[in-house]
Amino acid sequence: MAAPRIDTTVDGPVARVFLARPEVRNAFDGETVRELTAAFTAVAAREDVRVVVLGGHGKVFSAGADLEWMRTVAGFSREQNLEDARALWALFDAIDRCPRPVVARVQGAALGGGAGLVAAADIAVAAEDAQFGFSEVRLGIAPAVISPWVVRRIGLSAARELFLTGERFPAHKALAIGLVRHLVPAGELDGAVAGRVAELLQAAPGAVAAVKALLRAVAGRTPEEVRETTAEVIAARRACGEGQEGLRAFLEKRRPDWAR
Ligand code: COA
Repeated sequence: MAAPRIDTTVDGPVARVFLARPEVRNAFDGETVRELTAAFTAVAAREDVRVVVLGGHGKVFSAGADLEWMRTVAGFSREQNLEDARALWALFDAIDRCPRPVVARVQGAALGGGAGLVAAADIAVAAEDAQFGFSEVRLGIAPAVISPWVVRRIGLSAARELFLTGERFPAHKALAIGLVRHLVPAGELDGAVAGRVAELLQAAPGAVAAVKALLRAVAGRTPEEVRETTAEVIAARRACGEGQEGLRAFLEKRRPDWAR
């Protein structure tokens, strides 16, 4: 049996979902995409998991699509080829829709689809010496499936330049365009990720899930378009058990039950 391509460990409320193909710099083929999607579906269904750390074993976060696999898929029928691409879309969607916050831990490099994974996560923390790139056009292909998540994260101005040149860019530029939120020396990466996780664990799990859905609903819409949606969210939150517990805990000067 082939070795698993994804390594998931759960430690208390934190799940670590790691790409586990360091020999190909965590490039992902069809099986990796299936396993990673399944891993996100599984952690999303677990009540005890409250934060997901997405990382990659070895010296590189992810070199993106497995180029050997890409070449193989080209030999498939058009329908099989499309199915494979749709499966990749479903992976990014599963990460985006995961009701738990997803923190990307980025070392070495995040290229092509690897940079797409970073964009689909909620918060990315990267090593200062990591490199990034949407290198697809240099391979004659396109950053197609990842584009909605990346454009939403970095905007059209940066995407036009970086998608069209395919150039590699340093971590400080990834920070400047908002692809990542935090840069630290490589040796401090785990500590910085742990810091984000600790902050996220202060938040009520149901509220976090509601906010993730809310952000998707309001992105790109006018305030008028989302008037009812936003009103419904706060009306539901303040009336629900978590909302009541959080407000009561503040007024009683104690920690809410999810942050003890
Ligand atoms: N798909 C398939 N195999 C890949 C790969 C990818 N995207 N990226 C790296 N590999 C393989 C290499 O072919 C090499 O295999 P080998 O040991 O059989 O020769 C192995 O992984 C190690 O790669 P190497 O380039 O020697 O590692 P490195 O640590 O010096 O550099 C990268 C790491 C990620 C910077 C470099 O591998 C790279 O630029 N990869 C291409 C990334 C890319 O353009 N992705 C876009 C996909 S759309």
